[in-house]
Amino acid sequence: MKFFIDTANLDQIAEAQALGVLDGVTTNPSLMAKEGITGKNNILKHYVDICQIVDGGDVSAEVISTTFDEMVKEGEELAELHDQIVVKVPMIRDGVKALKYFSDNGIRTNCTLVFSAGQALLAAKAGASYVSPFIGRLDDISTDGLHLIAEIREIYDNYDFGTEILAASIRHTMHVIECAKLGADVMTGPLSAIEGLLKHPLTDIGLEKFLADYKKGNS
Ligand code: E4P
Repeated sequence: MKFFIDTANLDQIAEAQALGVLDGVTTNPSLMAKEGITGKNNILKHYVDICQIVDGGDVSAEVISTTFDEMVKEGEELAELHDQIVVKVPMIRDGVKALKYFSDNGIRTNCTLVFSAGQALLAAKAGASYVSPFIGRLDDISTDGLHLIAEIREIYDNYDFGTEILAASIRHTMHVIECAKLGADVMTGPLSAIEGLLKHPLTDIGLEKFLADYKKGNS
């Protein structure tokens, strides 16, 4: 399973990278705004800064256009920025057309805002590199987000689609574990969801005892 961090915060990206388990970064316009990154030039520069922190990892940069022609223009500009850029395209009618265009032209894509198995099937047919089902947002409206991951896994396996399932809108560590059990190819979430994986009280208690016993015998 690949680990992506879902943020535009450079410190958090660097921290996850330093842990040695980071495979990429996903951003979206809300995450960029949260970091106060505004204006086209600043936004493009920020994507390059992110690429430079994540050694060889994929960095999703989202288009803000909603028509085919504009998405193509914007996506091509984003893809030109760095070879680690993956163009993030919303699951709308023109987005599907843009996914197909980018796929035919060697530009990698992440189809975002996916909330149903049908949308995921369409994204794969259009040649998306990644599909991003938002499991946390489904959970928020009392719908089982993890069930969607299972459905998409089954469909993609039935037809050997190459599109990778990028479990998005991950909120906590149990989402990560359940997505791994269901065979999601990638997870993207906050740093806390990644770091939460390493925590166990018995590890802390055990280490404390090992170190105390060592100290007794070596002081
Ligand atoms: C995916 O790429 C999105 O950026 C993200 O996972 C959305 O998560 P949220 O529902 O926590 O905003």
